[in-house]
Amino acid sequence: MSSIVIVGAGPGLGAAVARRFGREGFRAGLIARDGGRLDALVRGLAEHGVTARGFRADVRRPEELARALAQAADALGTVEVLQYSPVPHRDFMRPVLDTGHRDLAGPIEFSVYGPVAAVQQVLPGMRRLGRGTILFVNGGTAAVPHVDRAGTSVAFAAESAYGHLLHERLAPEGIHVAQLVIPGVITAGHARKDPDVLAQTLWTLHRERHGFRHYADDLDS
Ligand SMILES: NC(=O)c1ccc[n+]([C@@H]2O[C@H](COP(=O)([O-])OP(=O)(O)OC[C@H]3O[C@@H](n4cnc5c(N)ncnc54)[C@H](OP(=O)(O)O)[C@@H]3O)[C@@H](O)[C@H]2O)c1
Repeated sequence: MSSIVIVGAGPGLGAAVARRFGREGFRAGLIARDGGRLDALVRGLAEHGVTARGFRADVRRPEELARALAQAADALGTVEVLQYSPVPHRDFMRPVLDTGHRDLAGPIEFSVYGPVAAVQQVLPGMRRLGRGTILFVNGGTAAVPHVDRAGTSVAFAAESAYGHLLHERLAPEGIHVAQLVIPGVITAGHARKDPDVLAQTLWTLHRERHGFRHYADDLDS
């Protein structure tokens, strides 16, 4: 049985992706900070027949994140799919002229150090398997920087560059790296941005394995 780990798993997209991959027989590892919420997610997934386990970590603490991923692999088997999709803190979205260098530390820890730590932790297992998928999920500022959201704009650009480099470097090894950019807001009932629809899009990226950047919706939406 294969395993997916969702780094930054909550009741929205994280749960929807766990259900979608779970339907295909994947076991799901869920990483977030709040143990109570993780327990509730695991219970909810069990009702859908999905085997899931929660692991507490703050993505801004790389060692803690690596430890949680190692625990997930021990409990669920080698991580075959890694999704990095924690929801960014509101403080990361300040106007550019109100953003000093210290204000960028959080966004960079969150969107660069976290992904690098996560990838370094799971990559040896994927290489041993000879296959794997790494999915980065970002908001629209990953593609078009926004003057009022300087932190995520700057940090998502760096995360995108890292993902793109991995895409090129790992494709020959059968490890597919892709990014889903979600412009605007995830909205229940929306034709393209409902969590279940986005989860289906991510499943398709995992299955079809072509190209790095994909858009969930038009950029001006
Ligand atoms: N929501 C939107 O409208 C929207 C729009 C565009 C793009 N996105 C993208 O969609 C993804 C999130 O989907 P969602 O909004 O539906 O969220 P979700 O999957 O429902 O929840 C995401 C989880 O991330 C966790 N998280 C936040 N900071 C963290 C940290 N420092 N360390 C570990 N976990 C952390 C939170 O759990 P804890 O608080 O327990 O840690 C939260 O429950 C992200 O990639 C985001 O960029 C969202």
